[in-house]
Amino acid sequence: MSKDMSFEAVMARRPETMKKAIGIDYDVFESGSIAFDYERMMRETGYSLQQMQKIQSETGVGNTPVYELRNLTALARKFAPKGKGARIFVKDEAANPSGSFKARRAATACYHAKKLGYKGVIAATSGNYGAAVASQAAMRGLKCIIVQECYDSREVGQPEIVEKARKCEAYGAEVVQLTVGPELFYSFLRLLEETGYFNASLYTPFGIAGVETLGYELSMEFREREGKDPDVVVVTNAGGGNLTGTARGLIKADADTQIVGASVDLSGLHMASDTQFNRKSFTTGHTGFGIPFATWPDRSDVPRSAARPLRYMDRYVTVNQGSVFYMTEALAQLEGLERGPAGNTSLAATFALAQELDEDKIIVAQETEYTGAGKHIQPQLTFAKENGIEIVIDDPKDEVPGENIILPKDPSYIKTKDIDLNKIKRSYIRNCIKNTKVDSVTSEDIEFLVKDTKSSEEFVKKVLDELKVEY
Ligand SMILES: Cc1ncc(COP(=O)(O)O)c(C=O)c1O
Repeated sequence: MSKDMSFEAVMARRPETMKKAIGIDYDVFESGSIAFDYERMMRETGYSLQQMQKIQSETGVGNTPVYELRNLTALARKFAPKGKGARIFVKDEAANPSGSFKARRAATACYHAKKLGYKGVIAATSGNYGAAVASQAAMRGLKCIIVQECYDSREVGQPEIVEKARKCEAYGAEVVQLTVGPELFYSFLRLLEETGYFNASLYTPFGIAGVETLGYELSMEFREREGKDPDVVVVTNAGGGNLTGTARGLIKADADTQIVGASVDLSGLHMASDTQFNRKSFTTGHTGFGIPFATWPDRSDVPRSAARPLRYMDRYVTVNQGSVFYMTEALAQLEGLERGPAGNTSLAATFALAQELDEDKIIVAQETEYTGAGKHIQPQLTFAKENGIEIVIDDPKDEVPGENIILPKDPSYIKTKDIDLNKIKRSYIRNCIKNTKVDSVTSEDIEFLVKDTKSSEEFVKKVLDELKVEY
């Protein structure tokens, strides 16, 4: 008898499909309540730092260069108060095969798939991760399918995502392009069932652990060249894996570094909306992913996400779209580095934050990404105009996502806005209660929530009181 492939039946088989496609039994880490043993999961299902360095070096991943951006530092100092203006550095992750830090995640995922004997890998992603998986799969002799959410219902595709499809195909992957909506997950599950391939999820322990090498390298590189760890590392944040992995790597190096998350402000735009899908000029590194994933990381395609950014974030800031475009040009024209939008999100924030710090401090934009036809400023701004977005040169503080893009009048207008982290932490705790449907929490849950929000017992208990939850 043939299997029932209706939407309902495929979705209902999700737990068994996932178990088969990842090879991890997540149940063993569960407490039966809110808490789960995160560190045990990372230890028992991930790889050690040394193993990851070896795996990644086999396929040319990692050990990317660090550049000091002297001209951007000088520019920032022009606008900073006297004595302020930290030295700005960037880690050039575009030097990885496939052109982004995502190669670190894909390297461990593809290695793992091969080790477990899978014939191929599947990833549901519209971004750099698809290219990274396709490239690593090619190196390891695995078949590869990338499932993309690419078009709105008019079948108009975001230039950056359309370009990514070409890149994945160039690496020999099969690309399944879908319109915005629930069919993405259905198609993904269906393909996993039909092919028996490995789910190269972005959120597995070995995927996230793959980014730890980046944080570790940062510490080692700065100790060698400057005799100290970076004071501040700024990380473009979306699903939280970039920040989680980098922070864990810095912690493994015993570095005392402040971790700042940075996202493009797309507040007010709904990512799953057909009509708003093409009204944004950024496909990652924005608040449309950053906020929902920070406040509920387990929304991902695995039962427990290994990306838990609130555990590691000291500060979370936003920048507007226009400032990132501006910084993209500034990086190319002042430093001779033509790079893509996601990394330049953290760079725009870094440029503004450097002006708060003393001149002898070190601030690092933790990654760059490659750029290409669909990622460039021109196609993005042209596409924005075609979709009714007004392009203005003025003060970015007045930008309204989905209505206009405001390029700063001059670099002094590039500013960050702080997101209230306590508010985000509160939302996360509320979601834990809501989604696990508990009406009282255990002492183990409290301990877990303290760690998962990098807060204190006092803070967690205060939120539980506000939510009228017993403990
Ligand atoms: C180049 C680049 N930087 C940053 C990010 C954000 O990473 P994460 O989703 O792990 O927060 C992405 C993810 O799409 C990316 O491709």
